[in-house]
Amino acid sequence: MEQQFSEVYKKFCAIKDQNLDVNSLMLSTSRLLKTEISHYDWVGFYLLDPQNNQLVLGPYAGAATDHTHIPVGKGICGQVAASKKTMVVQDVTGQDNYLACSMDVQSEIVVPILKDDRFIAEIDIDSHAFAPFTTEDEQFLSSIAEKLSELF
Ligand code: SME
Repeated sequence: MEQQFSEVYKKFCAIKDQNLDVNSLMLSTSRLLKTEISHYDWVGFYLLDPQNNQLVLGPYAGAATDHTHIPVGKGICGQVAASKKTMVVQDVTGQDNYLACSMDVQSEIVVPILKDDRFIAEIDIDSHAFAPFTTEDEQFLSSIAEKLSELF
């Protein structure tokens, strides 16, 4: 992992070792990632509500969003809930199935959190930069998602 990511990952592990409840850990993680990584402008979690087949906004860091409930399949977030696969969108203007949060957002990465191969939640990151994400972002965020899944 790139040095910056491994340093932030260590900070994340230190927070996780505090044995916070899952909501506090998601909030602290959102704040950590937004503060430490310059191309992360909005960081938040969506949690699956299986009864209503929709995602519900959980803890986040950044501007308030209108998208507090997202049907599975809708937008980038909903597509990841359906596919259980990470989605990297380097240019949101090229996506038809996209829910805009702010005109400043140019790119987005969404990483699923799986428990025993079941989709339970996801990390959603918006960036104001164009095409900022690399495979390092994917690896870094997947490691965090895997650690967080232990708490669900
Ligand atoms: N852009 C997302 C919606 C959530 S906001 O980014 C916070 C999507 O297309 O699913």
